[in-house]
Amino acid sequence: MKILIVKDYDEMSKKAANMVASQIILKPESVIGLATGDTPKGMYRQLVKLYKDGYVDFKNVKTFNLDEYYGLEKDNPQSYNYYMMENLFKHVNIKRENINIPNGMAEDLEIECEEYEKKIEELGGIDLQVLGIGRNGHIGFNEPDLKFEAKTHLVRLDEDTIKANSRFFNSIEEVPTMAISMGIKTIMNARKIILLASGKEKAEAIYKTVNGKITPKVPASVLQLHPDVTLIIDKEAASLL
Ligand code: GLP
Repeated sequence: MKILIVKDYDEMSKKAANMVASQIILKPESVIGLATGDTPKGMYRQLVKLYKDGYVDFKNVKTFNLDEYYGLEKDNPQSYNYYMMENLFKHVNIKRENINIPNGMAEDLEIECEEYEKKIEELGGIDLQVLGIGRNGHIGFNEPDLKFEAKTHLVRLDEDTIKANSRFFNSIEEVPTMAISMGIKTIMNARKIILLASGKEKAEAIYKTVNGKITPKVPASVLQLHPDVTLIIDKEAASLL
């Protein structure tokens, strides 16, 4: 595990965007795994800037998002689909057919999950996966559990996650209680992973990710077993290391 401790959110965002951009420059048809939440917003802003300045071209890039809420329409402003459009996709030249986000409204969720996995495989696997981290150590929506869930699956969200994510909704009752998420194996199969974290409230999760026992109770701890993970974290998130 490589750990890059940076000054603040801004530096974290720039470093992360540069890593994604260099992946795309080296391999223009890269398959990139993307994350949502507040943490990667600055990285997306930087990527849009790099695109507008002509440094990076999304023409042949393919993307797979980590997760999506169950039961939200694509155009619902709280959906991750909407988030991705607003924060990245509508500002760059990515082709719509190259964007993959789990469909939270799928009639048959089992088929939806299977097909998502199949598509990742068909496109040759994920070259670079971007991750955030939940306060409870979740990655994607893989919540603390008794076992690691391997593949894309339907998840019941933890109280803590629902509470944390309620800041994006009008009330806590509006937060979906379920989501579709890539599994731990899906994430671990990525050739390269970068995990971003900023702020004190992530410090404990980062400590456990780096120094803790590898356990499904802290899903991100499994990253200790991945051969190419870089943590890009600011001083506050690194404060317990
Ligand atoms: C959500 C997402 C995760 C994200 C996490 C942290 O629950 N499913 O992918 O990493 O929250 O979010 P934030 O970056 O807003 O703290």
